[in-house]
Amino acid sequence: MVGPDEIAAAVAALQAGDVIGLPTETVYGLAGDASNPVAVARIFAIKGRPSSHPVIVHLPDVAQVPRWARETPAAATALMQRFWPGPLTIVLPRRASVSAAVTGGQDTVALRVPAHPVARQVLDAFGGGLAAPSANRYGRISPTTAAHVRADLGNEVRIVLDGGPSEVGLESTIVACIGQQISILRPGRVGAEAIEAVVGPVSGASPVAPRVPGSVASHYAPHTPLEIVEAVALDDAVAAHARAGRRIAVLAPGERPNPAAAWRSAATDSEGYGRALYDHLRRLDEVGADVILVVRPPDGPEWLAIHDRIRRAAARPR
Ligand code: TXA
Ligand code: MG
Repeated sequence: MVGPDEIAAAVAALQAGDVIGLPTETVYGLAGDASNPVAVARIFAIKGRPSSHPVIVHLPDVAQVPRWARETPAAATALMQRFWPGPLTIVLPRRASVSAAVTGGQDTVALRVPAHPVARQVLDAFGGGLAAPSANRYGRISPTTAAHVRADLGNEVRIVLDGGPSEVGLESTIVACIGQQISILRPGRVGAEAIEAVVGPVSGASPVAPRVPGSVASHYAPHTPLEIVEAVALDDAVAAHARAGRRIAVLAPGERPNPAAAWRSAATDSEGYGRALYDHLRRLDEVGADVILVVRPPDGPEWLAIHDRIRRAAARPR
């Protein structure tokens, strides 16, 4: 997949202040040296992201947390021990030395040790923190393959490491641990029950969440308007759009509905659904349909992150 020469070239680019496409188990990141404000500025410029939005710092291991966080509550340490390396990001009070480019000017910093073997090799060889937002243009669907990154940012990013399709497929769960307060800022594969099993009850409503783009209603959106429909209402919705002369793309389990212009078969398990969701949405977005119909997935805690992402995709401003 990714040879030692490619890893070495990627690390050399990072050391020179350049940015690279980096596979992680959640989504692909646009990575740069988190200690180099020029590299971080380049990330923001390429994404077209407002500079007030903070980025996640990816670390090779838990031992580097104190370089970034001035305080690590016991609950945060317990979460790191249980879920790192893995798809969990922890927001902590930042050290004064962490640049405002990384924190968006906030007094906190978001940290994660990713599990993907390629990300780990790069981080180990680089030896420091890598700022890496998802490698998509601001407000668009996160990439889950190297091809997605090249399609979005190929003109600006010379090195995109191909680590295969991301195993989780949805962005990491974000938990803030500030003082005694623990809150989930963004749902992901690591669910609330799993977190509460480690740290006890967490607050549902987030007291923090200033300037978290993931909390902007219209985030993660395809270009094509997206509607969520109940499974039992799909045939009627398809018929109504067809009568109005609209081309229809559908993401649904089961059979291809007629007369859909495009259809992708949704997995019936939450992990499979999450893994494929962004690729499905990208492909359905490419067929030139007038509307994407997504059959509402089942309820239940393991579907929470999926409901969150498709709700945001549907909330896109028209
Ligand atoms: O799975 C992921 O988290 C991926 C991979 C590449 O690691 N990264 C990712 O980054 O999704 P990004 O920038 O697309 O989303 C990071 C989220 C944003 O919603 C950002 O506002 C939030 O993390 N965030 C970063 N620092 C924060 C902080 N100090 N306080 C609150 N939220 C923060
Ligand atoms: Mg993102």
